[in-house]
Amino acid sequence: MTHDAITGVLVEHLADVFAVGADAIALDRPMTDLGVGSLETVEAIAAATRALRIRVPMAELDAAMTLTDLAELLLLHHEVARAPRIAFEEDADAQAAWAAVADRLEASEASAAGYEHLTYDMFLGSASGAHREIDHFNRWIDDIMADGRYAFESTHLGAQRPVVRVERPTGEAFELINLSCYNYLGYSHHPDVIAAARQALDTYGLGATSSPIASGTLGVHRQLEDALVDFFGVPDLGASLFSSGYAVNVGTISAFMTPGSYIVCDRAAHMSILEGAQLSRAHLRYFDHGDLAGLEAVLRSIAGPEQRILVCIEGVYSADGDYGRVAETVALARQYGARVLVDEAHSMLLDGPHGRGVAAAQGVLDQVDLLVITFSKAFAGVGGALIARRPIIRYVNWYARCRMFSCAMDPAVTGGILKALKLARSADGDARRTRLHANAAHVRGRLRGRVDLGESTSWIIPVIYGSERLSIAVSDALQRKGLDAGILTFPAAPRGEARIRMFITSEHTRAQLDRAVEIILETADALGFARKPPAGQTPSR
Ligand SMILES: Cc1ncc(COP(=O)(O)O)c(C=O)c1O
Repeated sequence: MTHDAITGVLVEHLADVFAVGADAIALDRPMTDLGVGSLETVEAIAAATRALRIRVPMAELDAAMTLTDLAELLLLHHEVARAPRIAFEEDADAQAAWAAVADRLEASEASAAGYEHLTYDMFLGSASGAHREIDHFNRWIDDIMADGRYAFESTHLGAQRPVVRVERPTGEAFELINLSCYNYLGYSHHPDVIAAARQALDTYGLGATSSPIASGTLGVHRQLEDALVDFFGVPDLGASLFSSGYAVNVGTISAFMTPGSYIVCDRAAHMSILEGAQLSRAHLRYFDHGDLAGLEAVLRSIAGPEQRILVCIEGVYSADGDYGRVAETVALARQYGARVLVDEAHSMLLDGPHGRGVAAAQGVLDQVDLLVITFSKAFAGVGGALIARRPIIRYVNWYARCRMFSCAMDPAVTGGILKALKLARSADGDARRTRLHANAAHVRGRLRGRVDLGESTSWIIPVIYGSERLSIAVSDALQRKGLDAGILTFPAAPRGEARIRMFITSEHTRAQLDRAVEIILETADALGFARKPPAGQTPSR
């Protein structure tokens, strides 16, 4: 679907409403100038929506928009809806599957459909005023629980250590090897980190109780900003703190980009990047995961002397565990006058000199325009930061709405993060990174060839089992055998590539990791996603 095609539908409808020729409809004047009232605007959009199957929240519509702006907005929603991770609205197969299941559910009070035939994405697509999907979804979860198979939302009864005790919502409890959380370097329960958090709590109290731009910036926040700038060691850099990593992407992208500009994303980019793009109303373009030729083709097609373009990639991809090609992306972007955002949520403190991340490891830290970090991963707290040149930081501080209109970071957590950063950039961090890399290589080595690990080369190790319909069985089996690992299904992973996701940490022992490998292999055998060993080789366990 193109901008022209959408414009064509809008013009056709307005010409029809006013009983004039299409050439009488101006595209570049506010619709109010055209004499088009709000009712007709709504009708024009409804017509486009029906013809193009695009949904746009009414709150985003403005009668002072030009027709061209409106077409652009529709195109943006169309492209976002088509993105592989949120594609249900555009996916005829998924909708047909949902319709079939919904009908069967509707026909029976009991669980006639069988919960194993349902998948999470089937509950995304209902648009009826009755919100039927809420009842259906609840019945689905109740059925799984009644069958004793609901392993999601289990409560962790202590800190995120390598072994955890968890309790299912049904009350069943398990002791598990914990490969499900981002505590990569073990700092969330490090005694020095806890002591620093306690001290900040004593000094600053429970919450910042104000937006950072008003009166919520506390001394401990400034200390963290300064420590980050010092850590990266690039002249003229600044740091802007946000209350989550998600908010860094949403707030920064929507402040930095404008309607009509272009955001070019790796197809595997995180949802927070897509939501930032959506909020900015820039055009959204994709290239296939890691495909630089694809990126170049997109850049070539949109580049222009005054064109504003932002390319978004990640340091280590959160669903696949492979590294971003940061240096090559930066070089290409420069060639076409584009800026680059690198989200290092899963790589900061874990790679590069003293943990400075993948951009630093690939020698281009000083050429990345927007570096995004989260404190919920290796920093072991919560929150996030944008690292960029000071003028950008000052601007984003004022124009990122989810920072301006939201409370500053929790002071105790900020104090803990400050200490985690100090440890991570020291010899302590170097030792933990060495153990982390060795642990991850060990697990990958033991699983390689026996299950599908995708392209993982890092501490994020997916085991792709394929069909979303196996997810309940896989999650239940892992927990019952003693492993706590994440489950990613569509839309968090591409359709048909549902996976177990393991986060390896520096703190796991080899015995724990070996047991985890055994559990994965036993589950893969039992549920049919083990790979056959190459002829003549007997796998050892
Ligand atoms: C790549 C990426 N960016 C951003 C985020 C959001 O970070 P947070 O959980 O700190 O909000 C995540 C979270 O998992 C992520 O994987």
